[in-house]
Amino acid sequence: MSSELAYRPATPDDLAACERIWVVGINDYLRPMNLPAVPDDNPGLRRLHAHTLATDPERFWVAARGDRVVAFGSAVERGRLWFLSMLFVEPAEQGGGVGRELLRRMLPRPLDGRVLGTATDSAQPVSNALYASLGIGPQLPLFDLIGRPRPDRPLPALPGDVRAVPLALGGGPELDALDRELLGFEHPQDHAFLHDPDRRAFGYRDGGGRLVGYGYASVAGGIGPIAVRDRSLMAPVVGHLLRTVEPRGASTVWLSGAQGEALAASLAAGLRIDGFPLLLCWSRPFADFERYLPISPGLP
Ligand SMILES: CC(C)(COP(=O)(O)OP(=O)(O)OC[C@H]1O[C@@H](n2cnc3c(N)ncnc32)[C@H](O)[C@@H]1OP(=O)(O)O)[C@@H](O)C(=O)NCCC(=O)NCCS
Repeated sequence: MSSELAYRPATPDDLAACERIWVVGINDYLRPMNLPAVPDDNPGLRRLHAHTLATDPERFWVAARGDRVVAFGSAVERGRLWFLSMLFVEPAEQGGGVGRELLRRMLPRPLDGRVLGTATDSAQPVSNALYASLGIGPQLPLFDLIGRPRPDRPLPALPGDVRAVPLALGGGPELDALDRELLGFEHPQDHAFLHDPDRRAFGYRDGGGRLVGYGYASVAGGIGPIAVRDRSLMAPVVGHLLRTVEPRGASTVWLSGAQGEALAASLAAGLRIDGFPLLLCWSRPFADFERYLPISPGLP
């Protein structure tokens, strides 16, 4: 190796290198399994990196040899949750302790009662072993459901007393209150991040006008986050978002093993599971995943 490895907090100038390392890091383990490669250009990933660097600059780190960034990691803190968003090391540098050292620098010290969480690829033994060795163990599978619902096999409709109303993007006190109930924290900064022209947000209200859920869907295809007060609303809300927001291509929704009814209904409607599941990992339970579907695997 040419020069010494140095660890430092990331800057916006590092984000292009982080995207490159993410692409080569994933493709390096997908290729031997004959799985399709991820593309070189990932606008959604760039937006996520810019967001986590803006909200949690002290938790976004890189490792560099001279001018060349060879690894990066990013985490966010929301309430008592510390969540690892990304950890990627260039293939030539893997297995030499770089990932563990980045994590050591990013983890909260002392823990002060914090819960540690992340999402891993079930097909990746190294990351699963590394996080489990720190007590962040695999708990819940997340399946990527893709496709469009067949009109002749609709998902369940919303109950008669629940109506969907478009919500202004950007969040607000009602959403914060529901997040506190389901996640243990509010995250208005992430609702603000979801504010983009391609996205629609809906509130679900009962007969008395009370907010019983919210859900987001993008015309780019992604569905989530979704939060519902009653777990039986998860499948109807997934169905409503799939029907109402027509994507440019296929829809994609990450459903967890805790959302059995929504999973069954989506499969019955013709959506297909894509690839291996991810695994939600945590050191202690922190959220009600029967009633909450995360923003993405990289942001709770
Ligand atoms: C996952 C990744 C970030 C880890 O970084 P790294 O620098 O390669 O890892 P390190 O060398 O610091 O640590 C790996 C640890 O896992 C252990 N390990 C590796 N394979 C293992 C296995 N099959 N079973 C048990 N332990 C294993 C190693 O022994 C090492 O532990 P040690 O420090 O106690 O010796 C890196 O390999 C990578 O970028 N992989 C591709 C992308 C990826 O999967 N990222 C994570 C997305 S969730």
